[in-house]
Amino acid sequence: MINFSNNIFKLSTDKTSYWFQITKFGHLEHIYYGAYLPEDQPVEPLLHKRAAELGSCVIYDASDDKYCLDNMCLEWSGIGKGDYRNTPAEIIMPDGTYTADFVYDEHKITDGFDIIRDLPSSYGSKEECKTLEITMHDESNDAGLNLYYTVYEKANVITRRASIANRNKSPMTIRKLMSMNMDIPNDGYRFITFDGGWIKEANKHERKLSYGIQVNSSTTGSSSNRHNPGFLLASESATESTGNVYGFNLVYSGNHYGAVELSNHDLVRIQLGINPYCFEWTLEDCDFKCDECIGGDCGRFETPEAIMSYSDEGFNGLSQNFHNFINNHIVRSDWKNKERPIVINNWEAYFFNFNTEKLLNLAKRAKKLGVEMFVLDDGWFGKRDNDKAGLGDYNVNTKKLPGGLIDLAKKIHKMDMKFGLWFEPEMINEDSKLYRAHPEWALKTPEKKSALGRNQLVLDLCNPDVRDYIVENVTEILDSASIDYVKWDYNRHISDACSPCVKEQGRFFHEYIKGLYDILDRIFTPRPHILLESCSSGGNRFDLGMLCYSPQIWTSDDTDPIERLRIQNGISYLYPLSTMGAHVSEAPHVQTLRDTPIATRFNVAAFGCLGYELDLKFLSSVEQKEVKEQIEFYKQYRKVFQYGRFLRGEQFKDNKVVWHVVDKDSKTGISGFFQTLTTASEGFDRLRFMGLDPEKKYTVKTRPQRVFIKRFGGLVKHILPVSLDPGGLILREANKHYSMNDCIEDYTAYGKSLMSGLMLNNQFEGTNYNENTRLLGDYGSNLYIVDAIDYKNK
Ligand code: DGJ
Repeated sequence: MINFSNNIFKLSTDKTSYWFQITKFGHLEHIYYGAYLPEDQPVEPLLHKRAAELGSCVIYDASDDKYCLDNMCLEWSGIGKGDYRNTPAEIIMPDGTYTADFVYDEHKITDGFDIIRDLPSSYGSKEECKTLEITMHDESNDAGLNLYYTVYEKANVITRRASIANRNKSPMTIRKLMSMNMDIPNDGYRFITFDGGWIKEANKHERKLSYGIQVNSSTTGSSSNRHNPGFLLASESATESTGNVYGFNLVYSGNHYGAVELSNHDLVRIQLGINPYCFEWTLEDCDFKCDECIGGDCGRFETPEAIMSYSDEGFNGLSQNFHNFINNHIVRSDWKNKERPIVINNWEAYFFNFNTEKLLNLAKRAKKLGVEMFVLDDGWFGKRDNDKAGLGDYNVNTKKLPGGLIDLAKKIHKMDMKFGLWFEPEMINEDSKLYRAHPEWALKTPEKKSALGRNQLVLDLCNPDVRDYIVENVTEILDSASIDYVKWDYNRHISDACSPCVKEQGRFFHEYIKGLYDILDRIFTPRPHILLESCSSGGNRFDLGMLCYSPQIWTSDDTDPIERLRIQNGISYLYPLSTMGAHVSEAPHVQTLRDTPIATRFNVAAFGCLGYELDLKFLSSVEQKEVKEQIEFYKQYRKVFQYGRFLRGEQFKDNKVVWHVVDKDSKTGISGFFQTLTTASEGFDRLRFMGLDPEKKYTVKTRPQRVFIKRFGGLVKHILPVSLDPGGLILREANKHYSMNDCIEDYTAYGKSLMSGLMLNNQFEGTNYNENTRLLGDYGSNLYIVDAIDYKNK
């Protein structure tokens, strides 16, 4: 899996190879990253040729006029020796200059993964991964740089990180230190990022690489909803299932910086790491004997871990590499690879306006429908009747919950449901007991008034006393009320980014995130039974760092399924369905005013960790039946939805989205066919299944779902002998008690023919309606269940 001979490192996974060599001057030159190559493949054809001295080059050493760093594919680079591309490291070296030239010293290969101090990382057993550590040095400065490569063979992922140490008497100041740098030849790449904002996270954007630098970064203090840290490079012709795709991501929840640069000789430089924005970290002279120095504070700086993967099976191939890797080597706790409970959350039902009675009623109704866990969201403590007060306080609001949390938790548990609780521990309101006692714990720029976000300030997690306060208060509640699940929220970006507790203000953003990890570690590592769902106004912190603590993340505050098609689709390129919280809510949706069928709300949310977030009291009797059946269905296929192979269908029309999940043996699959805005007289729809076994015989059947009478409005006059007021009492009442069955299709076919495309029944298009017409209209959808026949009969 990691081999070294003739100065060449060969890193192999099941399906990929990553090769680089030590040059005669000690630089690390990238040779190849792509589909697996047998190790005896001669290296010469893959090498970048240096036959001619290229124009306007700075020559590294007079002995070789063709050795120019600017035109080489490098695994790392410095400043001041002729490489003018985006540098992975900008450091004021101990000699006071920016010139840095790190060359190879030695290396070692070990089994397993080496822990990074103070930062979360991937993990694997000695059998699952191997680590290559390369030590380099800059001679004139007596500074050491270590590059780490961890190879996860089965997962087809290689992770990278760097650490730097100052062995000099004079200080060294890091202004930029990437986790990885890699240069590859261009292949007409498209740069694909996942961008957005509140309620529109992870929308996929792509642009063709062009000369210069393109950046995907965050400066908000967290990984952000603006630009997810993960990004892809795909060859021009790559599709969902064919072509070359590279993927990169960072195990980090703070400001990130990802960049791709196309050089004038068509080399692509890829970098990923902590954002250099407002970053400065001075390493003092150090004797490397104290504990602090080992990975810590004074003499050494360690970057977070970057992960890379490659697939020649298109975007789906790449996503599956990431999905398996995250499920097996990022997510921890007792919930790793475990089926997640179906949730009822009270937020969109009541916002801040609830009391015990309302909560218990909601829980009772949910229990009847098959829901497994009740989550009490914001508003249970302090004076928190709106978002202007209470954050920072942990005393239960006894006006709303006279019996307290312990009593509520007991009652919920008695209903045989799990109990989950919302916290927002990193924040403080000025109107809180905590702020009155400790105003200095909130972030503040000296002599300036702090800027508010959602009426709140951010607590200074660089301060150990603040961290202790949070850990003590949160753990006390978790233990006393036997909480099964925590929703850890974080609802604003950071401003006034300074702290009296850091040595230099350039450390603030990174120290904040290390402080957060310290808190999460102290609370949740000793309590692996608690299912943690992190949240940040939805998906403002959807990243691999948070996933090391929270097996799932609230994907977005947008629960409109049509928006979720875009959001969950975007997230699915980088993260598995087991990590995405997805709830059915009320329509018209609070985020968009869009009115969507309850079937579509479920059909979208089923491709994730399902929950409900609406006042169930207002469901009509037929809607209740519908929801009950949805939940039964989800339970039956939950494992496939959460952990199956997820495949995005090729987008064959602008108003269609198709998703598939298939279990690991290709015995059972579910495909979702979604229509956004309909067009008049829709053409024939062909559903191309994916991931099935071509040789297996399958049954395909539509999941039964209801169509509600109100969808037809005045059109009911076409089927009734009398003309009724479409908004009148009779139809409104009828809609509560009766519904029509949506068309069910039922086929038997071999996987091969299903994957070539199943021709579906016609959609309703104004001329006809019968039980074989698919009633999609705007926002309609269906799920199709595929079951292998031989398997069922065994
Ligand atoms: C933002 C979250 O994303 C919502 O789900 C909800 O928990 C609110 N915060 C509560 O304030």
